[in-house]
Amino acid sequence: MRTLPYIAEDAHGIRSLMVDGRPYMGLAGELKNSSSSSSEWMARKVWPALEPLGLDTVLLPIAWEMMEPEEGRFDFSLVDAVLGQARERGARLVLLWFGLWKNAESMYTPLWVKRDTGRFWLARHRFSGATLSISPLCREAVQADARAFGRLMAHLRETDGTAQTVIMVQVENEIGFLGSERDFSPAAEAAFLSDIPEALAAFFHTGGSWSQAFGEDAPEIFMAWHYAQAVEHITQAGKAAYNLPMYVNAWLEQHPCRPGRYPSGGPIARMMPVWKLGAPSVDLFAPDIYVSDFAGTCAEYAAADNPLLLPEVRRDPVTASNVFYAFGHHKAILYAPFGIDEFMDHQEYQPNTALLNHLNIDIESFNCAGTAPYLIPSYRLLREARPFLLAHRGQMQGFIKKSGHDRGCVLSAQACDLIVSYPDEERGKPGSAGLWMELENDTFLFMGCRFWVEPVPKRNARRQIAVLRLEEGRFEQGEWVAGRVLNGDEKDLLRCGDTASCFKFTIGQV
Ligand code: DGJ
Repeated sequence: MRTLPYIAEDAHGIRSLMVDGRPYMGLAGELKNSSSSSSEWMARKVWPALEPLGLDTVLLPIAWEMMEPEEGRFDFSLVDAVLGQARERGARLVLLWFGLWKNAESMYTPLWVKRDTGRFWLARHRFSGATLSISPLCREAVQADARAFGRLMAHLRETDGTAQTVIMVQVENEIGFLGSERDFSPAAEAAFLSDIPEALAAFFHTGGSWSQAFGEDAPEIFMAWHYAQAVEHITQAGKAAYNLPMYVNAWLEQHPCRPGRYPSGGPIARMMPVWKLGAPSVDLFAPDIYVSDFAGTCAEYAAADNPLLLPEVRRDPVTASNVFYAFGHHKAILYAPFGIDEFMDHQEYQPNTALLNHLNIDIESFNCAGTAPYLIPSYRLLREARPFLLAHRGQMQGFIKKSGHDRGCVLSAQACDLIVSYPDEERGKPGSAGLWMELENDTFLFMGCRFWVEPVPKRNARRQIAVLRLEEGRFEQGEWVAGRVLNGDEKDLLRCGDTASCFKFTIGQV
């Protein structure tokens, strides 16, 4: 069998997802929740809609209910059909295991699980009682999920181990408890009064009951620990069958910042230490970013031991510029706008306001009506440049306009400094963001959207500098293909416009 995808440092010391022995840089999109529940729908609606977008990686749900309709009877025909369709198109897949928990509810469990609330008992709210969410303390439920997930992974090993269409798996989806800060079921009540586990006591240098150890934060940490332990069990079962990299995604902590108003116990940045202790088999934790602070959220998650993976990002045109920052600054593993299968719909934006309010998602972040014309050139440019970018990964950097007040930044290079300026934000257009690198012979490469660059001497320099040559251009299979050479009236046009573009220039001292 070929070496399986794995997470490790690349030749530049950057922790990466390695696929076919090379760092992965997935130009991806995540499908809407229901799209992959029908292979006929996938063939008729989804794959044709993805074609013009130029993705190479698709994130799609595999629901437990579709796979184990009766306890112990597994049906992989849908999985096989969807994988076959992806293979025919040369797409790589990241599977999203919609098992016990999807957005804090247990709606993707099979009917035989949903109906047996005695065996698979539900978590309870503090004041209002029953929920649609199975308690993470319900061992039978966690074991049943782990068995099913193990069977899925074993099936993938047998049927996809050679082709490796599937490169990674997300375990559950936006896990956590909504509505109360913790589970108030009788079992959870008893567990909450007991002493905290040894591992937490040793790591946080504390002890006693949950409340004694963690005060006000106790309910959230309690949920994080129990979800992490459940996910650890499920992940171990999956990896024992087929050892693909696995991650857990997060619904972010946001206004109003009370656990339970966002899923309590999910892997938000503050809970990551608890998750790492409770679920050591999980390779990384990933943010779903619908908030406007893209850079701040990336910074919270990107760490030496947690390479940045973006399984869900906003759908409005800023997604076409944010992608340059994600790859340039953070060397992201992959970047995936959500609901990518409707980006080519040329309909007016009619937001499902009730759903978006329930999920606490900014309504504008979901507006993909005008995004495809910007996203397609961004993905094309990055796809064609990718071999070059990967070879120069150590030099690659990124910048981004962080808010409406942000006018620009000064980049520091060896040969000069570079003043990068941003225009005002404009609704319906990408934001300002780019990827850049300093190459040999005082040459610079920039790509992205909506910024301009002015090279200036270093502050202690004694000589002026000038741009000696400016080329616009693009890449073809990793090779630079120069377009116009801009030496006359256009020589100061070191800029990228609304649609992603790329330029290269060489400076000299004068
Ligand atoms: C985040 C979830 O993870 C997705 O599955 C989806 O529900 C989107 N929110 C909103 O549609």
